[in-house]
Amino acid sequence: MTRIPPLLRFLPLLGLAVTLPGGQKQAEILEIATAGSALVLAVAPDAPVVFRHYGGRTAGADAFLYKGHRDGPEVYPAFGGTNFANLALSVVHADGSLTTELVYAGHERRALDAGREETVVHLKDKLYPLTVDLHFTAHKAEDVITQRAVLSHREKAPVRVETIASACLPLQAGAYYLTHFHGAWGREMRVTEEKLTPGGKIIEEYRKGVQTTMSDNPSFMLALEHPADEEAGEVYAGALAWSGNYRLSFAPDELETLHITAGMNPFAAARMVAPGEALETPAMVLTYSARGRGQASRNLHDWSRRHALAHGGEPRAILLNSWEGAYFAFDEKTLTGMMDDAAALGIEMFVLDDGWFGNKHPRNDARAGLGDWQVNRQKLPRGIGHLADYAVSKGLRFGIWIEPEMVNPRSELAENHPEWVVKSPGREIPQRRNQWVLDLSNPAVQDFVEKVFDDTVALSPNITYIKWDANRPVWSAGSEYLPADRQTHFWKDYVDGLYKVYERVRAKHPDITIQLCSSGGARLDYGALKYHDEFWASDNTNAVDRVLIQYGAGMIYPAIATASHVSASPNHQTGMMVPLKFRFDVAMSGRLGMELQPKDIAGADLEFARRAIQNYKRIRPVVQLGDLYRLCSPYDEKGRAALAYVSKDRKEAVLFAYNLYHFHARGFTFDVKLKGLDPAKTYTVSELNMKTSKSVFPGNKKTFTGDYLMKAGVSLSIPRPQESAVLHMTEK
Ligand code: GLA
Repeated sequence: MTRIPPLLRFLPLLGLAVTLPGGQKQAEILEIATAGSALVLAVAPDAPVVFRHYGGRTAGADAFLYKGHRDGPEVYPAFGGTNFANLALSVVHADGSLTTELVYAGHERRALDAGREETVVHLKDKLYPLTVDLHFTAHKAEDVITQRAVLSHREKAPVRVETIASACLPLQAGAYYLTHFHGAWGREMRVTEEKLTPGGKIIEEYRKGVQTTMSDNPSFMLALEHPADEEAGEVYAGALAWSGNYRLSFAPDELETLHITAGMNPFAAARMVAPGEALETPAMVLTYSARGRGQASRNLHDWSRRHALAHGGEPRAILLNSWEGAYFAFDEKTLTGMMDDAAALGIEMFVLDDGWFGNKHPRNDARAGLGDWQVNRQKLPRGIGHLADYAVSKGLRFGIWIEPEMVNPRSELAENHPEWVVKSPGREIPQRRNQWVLDLSNPAVQDFVEKVFDDTVALSPNITYIKWDANRPVWSAGSEYLPADRQTHFWKDYVDGLYKVYERVRAKHPDITIQLCSSGGARLDYGALKYHDEFWASDNTNAVDRVLIQYGAGMIYPAIATASHVSASPNHQTGMMVPLKFRFDVAMSGRLGMELQPKDIAGADLEFARRAIQNYKRIRPVVQLGDLYRLCSPYDEKGRAALAYVSKDRKEAVLFAYNLYHFHARGFTFDVKLKGLDPAKTYTVSELNMKTSKSVFPGNKKTFTGDYLMKAGVSLSIPRPQESAVLHMTEK
């Protein structure tokens, strides 16, 4: 590339663009910067916007000569011109033309608040009156940049948008290591890291529409040159804020540039956009870390607590959920009994799960009643109000379960509104868990879903928590509401409809705690999470599996939002027997709750549970608001795991260590080096949740410098499978 004469170099920094002899254009540098990262674009009038850099913030982005068309990857490549990499946009224009060539048409900047700045880059097609605005929001303190696109046009008739990405990211390195999250029901968010090979990789969901994160999550981490380290090396992380079908594509080109393209999945989803209408993509959330995967996670956690999670700065209540303790088989007495026991344990909230509604078709199992959100008079003759008042009389908050997007065929709702059911005309409507999906692209259904929420909350002024579930995917799409030539709009319109309802519900009920649940973690994304306080990470409550699930979830989503419950042993999903201590030690590394019949806990276990709950109250602010450090991965085949949370002021930390299965002969210790402590501080180390009077840590109650704890570490005697330790470190 030709270098620019030094004299001309400063001109772009002043926002000036100059034309050099031969018609070559001097580009202006546009830097979207956070405290430690920068995304740098080169812009010049009527020329494609070129991506220059995303990564560590540079001392001053240098100007450079820009030769118009082929100087670097475009920031938003459209089909047309000579783009050969992954495409962000493909449009069929009103006259049938397939090509689009986007060029720079200006930009704007504004501070959203002290910590956030938005840059909008305007792109226009060279030929047709079609524009794309790229919205970048720099979250400065958290090193997070979000990006989304808005398309509109003034062509004579609708244009057909075949694909429209949220963001494209070209990166340059010798090797790329992709970490992504794969799984299934009961084993969500399993961590896989792989070296990208020619041909690339696509992570997507294209046909479920709902429950899109059951098998893969729309998020990733990417390390350059070497497999990701926890605390060193360059790592990028991304998460698409979208609850519908998605696609993340990682495509190396022939020059070894890796093109990451993220957005809604284009499969069967073309959109007709009328003149004057705007088509907006979801946001892609990106962060850059020069200090490994750990810092990338901490960036996302900080960002979500501040910007993408309801009440992100407020510690969560410890709750007892009725599901695994009672399932559908309860009456008033069952529930008040559970509340008595919960209160005695020190629990702070009771949540009544599925089974409380339906009269003509009582919801006594999963086969009937879904959709009929009236209190079941036989089971609960005094209504929800009585139960919620009872909870409050015991010092507990009260929460309740709904699944407002779904319907059992055996329900009054299905009888009255067959037109609301998602279906393909003339075909049998497939069932899953005996239920159908309601068509949220229909505004009447949106109103219904909103009303279910409102009416449920109105059952008692003492309801302060809603668990919002969604227990099946769409699969066979089709909307009676959408016209024949707009059926491909269904996927996006469903999610837009859902978000409209979330918006309205949140505007009316800002203080309600809402849990995001979908057969466990099948709807776990930042699009939905921002309206919720927490998510149900998995229906699998087996603590051993939870170590793996929560370790994966914690890469992208924060512990404050990770609902994690102590359930019965043998575990209902896996049959595995796990000691109560291990179950508590795992659940306490997230948002602690219980999900069992508390009267089944007796004797020493009862006393242990009471103490563990007390302990959690002490460490809760550190776990929920502190910084996560992953110390030992359960995925590296050593059969153990460790992680720690450190308070922001580094005065306190909590270490969780787990022996999952045999890793050495009995007698060997599990040695863990802490991270993130203040080397200059002195900490008193106390073991919590001790099973006997003998600590598994020989230095229990003694003091150590942060430096020592990080360099020499602690030795824990937890040699047997399902042994675990929790150490609390407080500044002396
Ligand atoms: C789903 C949820 C569970 C529970 C049941 C109730 O499976 O994930 O936690 O609420 O529904 O039917």
